[in-house]
Amino acid sequence: MEEKVKKTFYVTTPIYYVNDVPHIGHAYTTIIADALARYQRLTGKKVFFLTGTDEHGQKIEKTAAEKGLSPQQLADQVVVRFKDLWQKLNISYDYFIRTTEKFHVEGVQKIFKKLLDQGDIYKGSYQGWYCVSEENFLSEDVSLEPDGYKICPECGRKAVLLQEESYFFRLSAYQQALLDFYEAHPRFVRPPGRMNEVISFVRQGLKDLSITRTSVKWGIPVPDDPKHTIYVWFDALHNYVTAIGYDWNPELFASFWPADIHLIGKDILRFHAIFWPAFLMAAGFDLPATVYSHGWWLKDEAKMSKSRGNVLDPHFIIDKAGADALRYFLLREIPIGLDGSFSHQGFVHRINSDLANDLGNLVQRTLTMAVNYFEGQLPALAEENEADRELAKHWTETKNKVYDLYDDQALNRALEEIWFFLNVVNKYLADNEPWKLANQPENRARLARVLYQALCSIRGASYLLYPVMPETSVKIWELMGEKRKPAGLLTSDLDFYDYQPGGKISRTKAIFPRIDLNEFISETNKSGVVAQPAPETGAKEKKMDYITYEEFKKMDLKVAKVIAAERVEGTKKLLKLQIDLGSEQRQIIAGVAETYSPEDLLNKEFIVIANLQPAVIRGIESQGMLLAAEVEGLAIIPFFNREIPPGTRVK
Ligand code: ME8
Ligand code: MG
Repeated sequence: MEEKVKKTFYVTTPIYYVNDVPHIGHAYTTIIADALARYQRLTGKKVFFLTGTDEHGQKIEKTAAEKGLSPQQLADQVVVRFKDLWQKLNISYDYFIRTTEKFHVEGVQKIFKKLLDQGDIYKGSYQGWYCVSEENFLSEDVSLEPDGYKICPECGRKAVLLQEESYFFRLSAYQQALLDFYEAHPRFVRPPGRMNEVISFVRQGLKDLSITRTSVKWGIPVPDDPKHTIYVWFDALHNYVTAIGYDWNPELFASFWPADIHLIGKDILRFHAIFWPAFLMAAGFDLPATVYSHGWWLKDEAKMSKSRGNVLDPHFIIDKAGADALRYFLLREIPIGLDGSFSHQGFVHRINSDLANDLGNLVQRTLTMAVNYFEGQLPALAEENEADRELAKHWTETKNKVYDLYDDQALNRALEEIWFFLNVVNKYLADNEPWKLANQPENRARLARVLYQALCSIRGASYLLYPVMPETSVKIWELMGEKRKPAGLLTSDLDFYDYQPGGKISRTKAIFPRIDLNEFISETNKSGVVAQPAPETGAKEKKMDYITYEEFKKMDLKVAKVIAAERVEGTKKLLKLQIDLGSEQRQIIAGVAETYSPEDLLNKEFIVIANLQPAVIRGIESQGMLLAAEVEGLAIIPFFNREIPPGTRVK
């Protein structure tokens, strides 16, 4: 039986709220999507890559009011910030949707009406705890206070029990259909751990979903009942169908729907893995192939967020190191799915070692030799020898692996393979010593062959790199006089040896200048990139965020004993510790090296959170976190005044 190969590829990012300007987190999702889109175009598929902004709802209404703007004015301003950044990062989206666009509003209303007519949406009343000051129903999981009231977690005021007329989506009716769908499509949610999370949530039972608000003005009006506006998530999720022609271009819609991959952060997994397929089933659409939920970018191990004031401005990093450096760093550092920590040290180390040394030096040296020894015009080549054949074979193997890895969205692994190959090329040059051959007139043909092998390697690597580092690849092609362009270049067509220099090779200066860490840090501070926390209102400052004892109990705090310790190479702050937790051994990465040497910590005991989600820090997995106080930037660990059996619970 002949398998039908899909000729199109539809990839989306979340549409971002316009109450905030873009930061590294938004850039991360969008860069992943861009790399996947570019890769699929390279293999000859017709690609539709969608991103955009989520512009309705209470959050936007409120932020606009605080700034003295209308919601539309706020949206218009912030959209420019997103588009600017995407341009700077070479994001090749096919369409940027704004949910205030007419075709989207009409599409959402049409779907709403269809579901209402067929009984999947019904009018009822919503009862919940409402915060008058925040104009918001509290989420159901806020627990009752001893006096029988709920307290608004935003402002700390008492909420009132309110009943409001609302339309509901009959989510409960889709519980079994969803479970059946997950079972038939185990790769619907990736990575796999997140699929299990979703399934167990749905198994616990689904309640109908309130999908309209009378308290929010800034939203899409319910058809024929305009005192209600449509809840922002019902509105926003449908962007994925309205943008590609639902209700206005059936041909476009038919060629791209269902989506191949919705990329999202793990914060919005339930909306995409539960609500969205249920809405789609109700409306009779096919379901997307994959929802891929990635992890958090943290700044020096804390979640980046506006209120923490540790949000990194991507513009500064791009101006300093280039768009491709940021793209490379974010995609190389962690597998999609795990959390990553952005540190200045980590970033500078990666750029200097991988981009300036391994890649940049290779390109610069090879081109310089080609120009110096042959004026860029390679003459007759010596016969291919064993080492040359090995190099070509290595590239072909790398190519096949890298294509498979890109197909599997394993971008960090693909980059690892490419770098492994670059190191092989660097070793080939070191072994074959073209600079020595250059002094031996009888070896001109061999010299030409060695440089040709290196040039073919660079060209071959540049094609594999193109999805992640488009600017660099194009620059390399220009320097090498490479005529082919990647669009539609099929896997099998790409051959190591089909490079003809034709006298067009140019010399270049460093394509990735080294970055000085101290200078980078001090410029960051001067530019205010790690923005200061926004001044909060008085009411908010005094508010205390209590957690319940139940919540505290979720933390698995244990005594750990250090059994081995070493520095993480190339960092000032990090130690890699092997710890004994009584029943098991683990590895953690701790930012304490400026206060403690590895020897200081050997056999010491301290407290760790054992059930913190593992994170990859500087490419090394950390399976827990130790507790420490931060005093003027130095981590001080609380130790015990007597020995305690490792694994003892702390509570
Ligand atoms: O949720 N690390 O929009 P949003 C990694 N409008 N990714 C991050 C991140 C971080 N620290 N911070 C943000 C919304 N992101 C809705 C979506 S879709 C129909 C509607 C990324 O502006 C990540 O992709 O809050 C996350 O899911 C998204 O930004 C949330 O963006
Ligand atoms: Mg958010």
